[in-house]
Amino acid sequence: MSKKLLKGFLKQPASEFTSRFSASHQFDRTLFKQDIKVSHAQIKMLRSIGLLSAKEYKALHTALNQVAKEIAAGQMNWQDELEDIHMHIEARITEKTGDTGRKIHIGRSRNDQIATDMRLYLREEIDHITYLMLELRHILATRALEHHALLMPGFTHLQPAQPITFGHHLLAWYEMLTRDQARLADCRKRVNVLPLGAAALAGTSFPINRQFLADELRFDALLSNSLDAVSARDFITEFLAATAICMQHLSRWSEELILWCTAQFGFVELPDHLCTGSSIMPQKKNPDLPELIRGKSARVFGNLTALLTLMKGQPLAYNRDNQEDKEPLFDSVTTIKDCLKAWCLLAEGMQVNAQRMEMALQHGHMNATRLADYLTEKGLPFRKSYELAGQAVRLAIAKGVNLQDLSPAQLQQISPLIKKDLFLDYPRLVASYNLPGGSAPRRVKTAARTALRQIAKQRERLQVDS
Ligand code: ARG
Repeated sequence: MSKKLLKGFLKQPASEFTSRFSASHQFDRTLFKQDIKVSHAQIKMLRSIGLLSAKEYKALHTALNQVAKEIAAGQMNWQDELEDIHMHIEARITEKTGDTGRKIHIGRSRNDQIATDMRLYLREEIDHITYLMLELRHILATRALEHHALLMPGFTHLQPAQPITFGHHLLAWYEMLTRDQARLADCRKRVNVLPLGAAALAGTSFPINRQFLADELRFDALLSNSLDAVSARDFITEFLAATAICMQHLSRWSEELILWCTAQFGFVELPDHLCTGSSIMPQKKNPDLPELIRGKSARVFGNLTALLTLMKGQPLAYNRDNQEDKEPLFDSVTTIKDCLKAWCLLAEGMQVNAQRMEMALQHGHMNATRLADYLTEKGLPFRKSYELAGQAVRLAIAKGVNLQDLSPAQLQQISPLIKKDLFLDYPRLVASYNLPGGSAPRRVKTAARTALRQIAKQRERLQVDS
């Protein structure tokens, strides 16, 4: 039966090796729901233009539903000879309905079929990923609000630089993820355009109603050129770029979390159920989740490179190379979803150690910039103030104290401009970073609240397909 399905001009069936080498059913079965959906739209459209009788339509409709159930129940007899998901479904429909099944492929090709399946799949997955991103943004904003006034060191070059709040740090992550989500939303616009009707490459002389298909499958528009429609894969490359950037962000946060969990930092602790032990060292509690997220970013970057390379040498229109687009795409989808889920657990579960943050503030003279700013406010050119503040730090180090613990006399020695109104304590210092985007607690509080409002609005708008 299977060998007969594509009996055209070739005298011999493909050899066993050729069949095995070119088969894609092992992975494109992931698309079976989309493929069935596309066929449902196809037969409805064929019926509407009179190319199927009411009886034929009904038979195909029933058969499609049965095949969908069979596949879901693991009852499909997958075989290399039938190559891909499309041929398996068509063969099974034909087994069930005879000559009626042989009509389902009128005016279409596997080339426009696979392009449509992929776009449907990706549209749904973008919505699922967006849902997870909203979830994670919500957790980050909630925790930022909770810790809007908790002071911690801010770093540049991983050296203590200036004090900030923990909430401000969390909102920096939040901002990255907000852009990641926006990139996906933008990508979705270019995913949600219909290739069907392009057939193999040139279009078809059957009076196919493409708009009907687009409406049925809820595509926003039709792709305008049949050659482009069957061969374009930039919608996948774009998605893989967007997910690579998001993974880069998750990897950076993971690196910070790993550092914060060390005995040396101790800023946060992860609950036991998110950690693993060592097989030899009984005392170990390892942050494997963030380490794996950092590691998994590598495969997601690799998937982007795979698609860029896959497409770079292809002439128009469809080439079989395109079959290689699926595994990298599926892998990035699975990976980003898992990593976002993992980050939801981490962000929600991490226990914050305020004391350790407070202790860390005692090192590094992170108020030196404040002293320089103060002297500048008193009329010195900034570069001069900078130099004097540097001298003050040296003096504090020599005396074994923190900058704010130098006596008024010692400060006078640095500059007679220093008066009682100088403050170097961290709470007042951070409160003074009070401009839009600054780390002052009241700014952080407002920013977190605004974030939570935005998330609530976006959640209302998002409808995820089941
Ligand atoms: N399995 C193929 C793919 O993923 C489907 C299209 C096959 N088209 C063809 N002419 N062989 O790209």
